[in-house]
Amino acid sequence: MEPIRLGVIGLGRAFALMRASFHADPRVRLVAGCDPRAAARDRFVSDYRGHAYADASSLAADPAVEAVYVASPHQFHTEHVLAALAAGRHVLVEKPLALTLADCATMRDAARAAGRHIVVGHSHGFDAPIAAARAAIAAGTHGRLRMIHAVYHTDFLYRPRRPEELDSAQGGGVVFNQAPHQLDIVRLLGGGMLASVRALTGAWDPARPTEGAYAALLRFTDGAFASLTYSGYAHFDGDEFTNWISEAGRDKPPGAPFTARARLPADQPGELAQRTARSYGAPDTPTLSPPHHEHFGLILASCDHADLRPLPDRLRIHADGVTIDQPIAPPSVPRREVLDELVAAVRTGHRPLHDAAWGMATMEAALAIRESAASGQDVPMRHQVPVMQEPA
Ligand SMILES: NC(=O)c1ccc[n+]([C@@H]2O[C@H](COP(=O)([O-])OP(=O)(O)OC[C@H]3O[C@@H](n4cnc5c(N)ncnc54)[C@H](O)[C@@H]3O)[C@@H](O)[C@H]2O)c1
Repeated sequence: MEPIRLGVIGLGRAFALMRASFHADPRVRLVAGCDPRAAARDRFVSDYRGHAYADASSLAADPAVEAVYVASPHQFHTEHVLAALAAGRHVLVEKPLALTLADCATMRDAARAAGRHIVVGHSHGFDAPIAAARAAIAAGTHGRLRMIHAVYHTDFLYRPRRPEELDSAQGGGVVFNQAPHQLDIVRLLGGGMLASVRALTGAWDPARPTEGAYAALLRFTDGAFASLTYSGYAHFDGDEFTNWISEAGRDKPPGAPFTARARLPADQPGELAQRTARSYGAPDTPTLSPPHHEHFGLILASCDHADLRPLPDRLRIHADGVTIDQPIAPPSVPRREVLDELVAAVRTGHRPLHDAAWGMATMEAALAIRESAASGQDVPMRHQVPVMQEPA
């Protein structure tokens, strides 16, 4: 198979994280990059000998580009996805798909009209242990799925941020940035079709005045339900629940307290400089493959006869009177499942599970977390879609 010729819009942190996957997977070749930062463009040319552009439309129009990875900040996703589709390219776009349902629908409809595919990822709904849990639930071996718990505590709010990432009106905070991971996982395990969302949010640090926490109660149309809790306030470390394997699938020192808050510069230029140092183009950008699968904290799916717990290297099944560990081989290519969907869509026309309609349904639930927190009401869901294919 000819490798997919990929152009990347937004050579930042997300690209730095995806690079290990692109390097390890011969099905993909990086041919073009776009970023307003000259340092990132220069680095791209020297790393990949590809073309580099300062604006997205020029990259999309480059005939060498077959598919576009949109990894620019949230607020540019719609513009960049539409530019790629208009040029006839398939799209891989980072979560969140967009900040409004109207924008999500515009992208979904534009992809249909252009006969091109959108894959929304990476998100932790792609993680192999989640696919294993989904397969076990779909097989019905343990009875019906009844309830899901998803809990994750991180240092999200104290990692260096751009100003708009601390302003909820511009897509800042954990509901836009982190809830899509948890919602993707929970919707995948539960079959996709949510009936309603009830939630509360917390914005407890006036110096970083956006949502840093939420708790949500989700009802599925078949009667199953899920509770989601997230805190980015950097106190308890949720990786304790995954045996001290980090979200990125790397071993970390057990019990070490978070240091992000203490390391954060007091002024905004300092914070931006620290952010850029974690981004593509910095000398120490990591590209090594992680030894374990990625994860998004504690996930517990309760069926009639067993509680299923996906872990970074196994699916642990707490059944009647017995606990079974079903090992999951380490990733050969990190985030391989994302590229599997992209390759299947581009090379065989296979509709991706994480397509724009799926991404829109996830964003409907994320937006409902904020809406419910403001209104104190259940928010009914109107744009949900079911899981269209079972993971292999
Ligand atoms: N799935 C994941 O694990 C993951 C991880 C990090 C980020 N993300 C997502 O990736 C997106 C980018 O986040 P990030 O953390 O990489 O941000 P970032 O600031 O590190 O990187 C964004 C890059 O886009 C560039 N950019 C800004 N405006 C642009 C424009 N108009 N055209 C082209 N490039 C432009 C910036 O210069 C920067 O290099 C966000 O939507 C975020 O949610 C996903």
